[in-house]
Amino acid sequence: MPRRSIVLVLAALAKAVSSALFTDVGQLSKTEYDFVIVGAGAAGNVLASRLTESKEFSVLVIEAGVTDQGVLGIEVPFLAPTNQPMTAVTWNFTTTPQTSLAGRVLNYPRGRVLGGSSSINFLTYTRGSNEEYDRWAELTGDSGWAWDNVAQFYFKSSRLVPPVDGHSTAGDFNPADHGNGPIEVSLPGMPTEIDNRVINTSKQSGSEFPFNIDLQSGNAVGVGLAQSTIGGGARSSSSTAYLTPVLNRTNLDVLIQTTVTRLISSGSSENPIFRTVEVAANASSKRSTVSAKKEVILSAGSIGTPQILMLSGIGDQTALKKLGIKTLLNLPDVGQNLQDHPIMSNYFLVNSNNTFDDVLRNTSILDADLAQWTNNRTGLFGNAPGNAVAFLRLPNNAAIFKQFKDPSAGPQSAHFEFIFADGFAATVQPQPATGHFLTINSAVVSPISKGSVTLNSTNPFEFPIINPNFFSSPFDQAVMLQAVKTARSFVAASPWAGFVQSRFGPVGDAETDDEIIAASKQSIVTIFHPVCTARMSPKDASWGVVDPQLLVKGATGLRIVDASIFPIIPAAHTVGPTYIVAERAAQLIKDAWS
Ligand SMILES: Cc1cc2nc3c(=O)[nH]c(=O)nc-3n(C[C@H](O)[C@H](O)[C@H](O)COP(=O)(O)OP(=O)(O)OC[C@H]3O[C@@H](n4cnc5c(N)ncnc54)[C@H](O)[C@@H]3O)c2cc1C
Ligand SMILES: *[C@@H]1O[C@H](CO)[C@@H](O)[C@H](O)[C@H]1NC(C)=O
Ligand SMILES: *[C@@H]1O[C@H](CO)[C@@H](O)[C@H](O)[C@H]1NC(C)=O
Ligand SMILES: *[C@@H]1O[C@H](CO)[C@@H](O)[C@H](O)[C@H]1NC(C)=O
Ligand SMILES: *[C@@H]1O[C@H](CO)[C@@H](O)[C@H](O)[C@H]1NC(C)=O
Ligand SMILES: *[C@@H]1O[C@H](CO)[C@@H](O)[C@H](O)[C@H]1NC(C)=O
Ligand SMILES: *[C@@H]1O[C@H](CO)[C@@H](O)[C@H](O)[C@H]1NC(C)=O
Ligand SMILES: *[C@@H]1O[C@H](CO)[C@@H](O)[C@H](O)[C@H]1NC(C)=O
Ligand SMILES: *[C@@H]1O[C@H](CO)[C@@H](O)[C@H](O)[C@H]1NC(C)=O
Repeated sequence: MPRRSIVLVLAALAKAVSSALFTDVGQLSKTEYDFVIVGAGAAGNVLASRLTESKEFSVLVIEAGVTDQGVLGIEVPFLAPTNQPMTAVTWNFTTTPQTSLAGRVLNYPRGRVLGGSSSINFLTYTRGSNEEYDRWAELTGDSGWAWDNVAQFYFKSSRLVPPVDGHSTAGDFNPADHGNGPIEVSLPGMPTEIDNRVINTSKQSGSEFPFNIDLQSGNAVGVGLAQSTIGGGARSSSSTAYLTPVLNRTNLDVLIQTTVTRLISSGSSENPIFRTVEVAANASSKRSTVSAKKEVILSAGSIGTPQILMLSGIGDQTALKKLGIKTLLNLPDVGQNLQDHPIMSNYFLVNSNNTFDDVLRNTSILDADLAQWTNNRTGLFGNAPGNAVAFLRLPNNAAIFKQFKDPSAGPQSAHFEFIFADGFAATVQPQPATGHFLTINSAVVSPISKGSVTLNSTNPFEFPIINPNFFSSPFDQAVMLQAVKTARSFVAASPWAGFVQSRFGPVGDAETDDEIIAASKQSIVTIFHPVCTARMSPKDASWGVVDPQLLVKGATGLRIVDASIFPIIPAAHTVGPTYIVAERAAQLIKDAWS
């Protein structure tokens, strides 16, 4: 190799080594940036990427977790469930005993790694109906959140790529419903034996289970193939799609393995200014500070964001006082209005040897599937755990509407969802040692129940108290009951003849309405969609935490950009809407400072 090339190669290597990823605050070359982003999760990395497009902005991202590089469970789509509940890449949260779930304590993990929960989630990609965003606009008094105005940010955040096995997907999606952004989305990379049964059941049912060629069309009701955040058979997260490609930008620094312990105010009691961020490597290490010239942006997620706010004296003054925290901003909505989707598994024994059950029971089959994925990223492991989904509504004349106003965003927004899996998807009940199964996971996606995130301690390294208050509204119970009945009638259709043999498990054994509700209380878990804990409200409203520009009410220099700002939960998996929020926020911030 000529000497000159060697020098160039060495220079390139040196550059790669001196990347912008730091593990200790002492490694940073400066302590003041234009923007300090707290949390390198779904939203935080969108901001990191978009804000550093402007060369005049310097940006620091602070992330408590570790790098996502080389974590097989993150990269391999089928292994998504192995990243939780309690692993080296999670916040190991649990809920309070859930009064309406027979007192059960649920695991409530969040991603604690570059990419945040987008690195550990189950990859389902949905944006929700147009009605969801039109309702946000109505609730916040800002037409900027209406679908017609946020559509550009949806198109800017993701793009559809071919499935890894290269099979024809004509007729499975509508190209017009997809954009040209960094997040890669694809249809299933390995069709399974149940996909066509689901689609055929839909098509032959007419309007009962309407076929929807593309659930990203604006009408989010119907049955279709799942679209997942997978590109080339591997996970596409905010880390792989937004952050990693721009890590070499000289105006971006990323500090990992560092926890933000609180924000420090430099203003007066009338005008608190939150541009100083306190950090620590762990509970026993010394605290340091970094600051923002323009804004601190909280993107720590629906649990982390309210926790940091309250530790900083931003929250309900009565609650803060009890903990001995001086209130700097009295915002009683901080940590309140927590909403999430309850989900549970409906199992059926099936007459097939092709389900994924044996893969999970037999290490030689598992190793072969993993070897295939390692070879060319194809096969079962390049797939998300579910290939088909259904988003359905209660009948318009359902009795429960006499008691409750319909909480859905409109006729193109679902009340419940099914995720179909070609095997036993273990949630509460472990996989049986024998047998082959179909799982229809049923979720309430228009819940009325609300809970909260509150502080248990002034120690930032202690977890907050999380109470999603699942199933507390009779409306949510009525929806789950209908979902169970609908799942049963769905698989009674002719495409399942000779395949589905019998119902299985405690939910399957339940016959009467009361038995189904009782079994649900023992079976429901979280689908991991907590939102609304720092909800946005109209600019002049006294309730809410942020205004429609996502600025914290009554504060200077502080914005929140993550799933906590949703004003109400959408009937959608939440990462898609989070990307939309973050893309719009990036535009708002650029507009405010240039
Ligand atoms: C197991 C699981 C499965 C899911 N499945 C799906 C799915 O299939 N489809 C879907 O659409 N959605 C799914 N979700 C939800 C989706 O991933 C989230 O809605 C989305 O990631 C929220 O983005 P966010 O930016 O608000 O928070 P996150 O992505 O959670 O990012 C928050 C980041 O802030 C960091 N952080 C928190 N506190 C601090 C602190 N004090 N200091 C420094 N850093 C901090 C965290 O470590 C994390 O990296 C799932 C979530 C989980 C956990
Ligand atoms: C969560 O639990 C795992 C496994 O025990 C551990 O490695 C990790 O450090 C824990 N995370 C936190 C934030 O405590
Ligand atoms: C689905 O319908 C198609 C077209 O009618 C048919 O060819 C196929 O066999 C059906 N598959 C299943 C599993 O029902
Ligand atoms: C960063 O790397 C990308 C891809 O290798 C390249 O296109 C870009 O020019 C680089 N940017 C800087 C600032 O070095
Ligand atoms: C805490 O962080 C410090 C660096 O600030 C490190 O030296 C120490 O080993 C860490 N302690 C633990 C328990 O991880
Ligand atoms: C599954 O395998 C068992 C044992 O080999 C066999 O008896 C059964 O017929 C197979 N079932 C199907 C549907 O192929
Ligand atoms: C596991 O699968 C392999 C390959 O199909 C098979 O040969 C072996 O008998 C199976 N082992 C068990 C315990 O079933
Ligand atoms: C991928 O590799 C497997 C063997 O590991 C092979 O059977 C399959 O045909 C390959 N697929 C493609 C698309 O190359
Ligand atoms: C709250 O703190 C108490 C006292 O330290 C402790 O016993 C309890 O487990 C904590 N609760 C949570 C949810 O961490």
